[in-house]
Amino acid sequence: MTAAQLTARRAGPLKGRVRAPGDKSISHRALILGALATGETTIEGLLEGEDVLRTAAAMAAFGAEVERLGGGRWRVRGLGGFAEPGDVIDCGNAGTGVRLILGAAAGFDLSVTFTGDESLRGRPMRRVLKPLGEMGATWTARSGERLPLTLRGGGLKHIAYRLPEPSAQVKSAVLLAGLHADGGAEVVEPEATRDHTERMLRAFGAQVEVADEGRERRIVVAGGQALVGTAVRAPGDPSSAAFPLVAALITPGSEVTVEGVLLNPLRIGLLETLREMGADLSVTNLREEGGEPVGDVTARHSRLRGVVVPPERAPSMIDEYPILGVAAAFAEGPTVMRGLAELRVKESDRIALMAAGLAACGVGVEEEPEGLTVIGTVRGAHGVAGGARVATHGDHRIAMSHLVLGLASEAPVAVDQPGMIATSFPGFVALMQGLGGEIEAAPLPEA
Ligand code: S3P
Repeated sequence: MTAAQLTARRAGPLKGRVRAPGDKSISHRALILGALATGETTIEGLLEGEDVLRTAAAMAAFGAEVERLGGGRWRVRGLGGFAEPGDVIDCGNAGTGVRLILGAAAGFDLSVTFTGDESLRGRPMRRVLKPLGEMGATWTARSGERLPLTLRGGGLKHIAYRLPEPSAQVKSAVLLAGLHADGGAEVVEPEATRDHTERMLRAFGAQVEVADEGRERRIVVAGGQALVGTAVRAPGDPSSAAFPLVAALITPGSEVTVEGVLLNPLRIGLLETLREMGADLSVTNLREEGGEPVGDVTARHSRLRGVVVPPERAPSMIDEYPILGVAAAFAEGPTVMRGLAELRVKESDRIALMAAGLAACGVGVEEEPEGLTVIGTVRGAHGVAGGARVATHGDHRIAMSHLVLGLASEAPVAVDQPGMIATSFPGFVALMQGLGGEIEAAPLPEA
């Protein structure tokens, strides 16, 4: 049975070495490319969170043989393409899952219906449907351009597409469709976003051209390329590692090391920002694993100061703003975060929910249409009050961020719908408890 609430309270320092779960972005892509390829793909360190398990089930529905070998090891035998599934594809809470699979499926002569949970059914799909439509795919949706919708793929033609918003999901959808389009596909990003699709396509034997043109990036894939199964290793997810690392930074006396964290330059915006805030962060054992830079990251309790986060850094830390908001709450002086329009269409409206959650915990915040300023603590004054029940609207990162806050605030903090944490970080509570964090399945004690 899943608890209705989880409560975090301040205890001693956090100490220890842990491994973050496998990277969510890489895990989705490994399953999808494995299913599109011919031959065998083995995946080590796959994130066995609910989002990724939905993608695994979807790949089986499209005809791939998908086997869980245990201990995060998986085997996929692809057909070299997708067959029409016999049933609706339910992507649960996963925006990445559905958008990438829409792109991959569009390349084949099939019809398929996609749906998701309440949050995913409310999220915009036009961003992928527009370019896929220009390539020749068609769809019908019950209401607007949202799930549930039925896609008809096949007969795609070339597209040269300039992304209106920096989105690795949309880029990836177009590139995956381009693999099976006459003439391939070209995507121009206004700012570079995570490039795991490009890197992994190469590992599966595809040719992908990438050219930087000022801040823009142009990516070209030729059509008719066959993928060949390969061995993939998913490193630790920096977006998950962020929670124990920030918890250590804000809890006096703490020192925590997260091992094997993916340090792709397009994913480390949070680490850069925390360093600018004065965080004591160090990386050791820097190495390359499966074409991606990986290292062990150590965080020690630090006196943080507020900063202005450059808006152009947003794509490299887009999922980390909620936990940055928590770090900012414990920093001296304001932290200004702008250029965050995309945060309003994530698993929840993350600007609104962080503003509400932090305010409920006694933190000064100013919400803007595309930004958030966290006022931070004042030297000599008390720390963060806490003492709130936070409504997460089923958003895993809103839940984990406020639990981390509760580990260092004066009064405990409770979050609702904690079961959703399993979408991206199934072992979060046990991992934090192992470091000494007090998180329990109980409501907030009455004041
Ligand atoms: C992801 C891209 C980002 C990110 C998401 C994972 C990916 O979304 O928020 O969690 O794996 O491509 P957008 O592409 O919508 O920015």
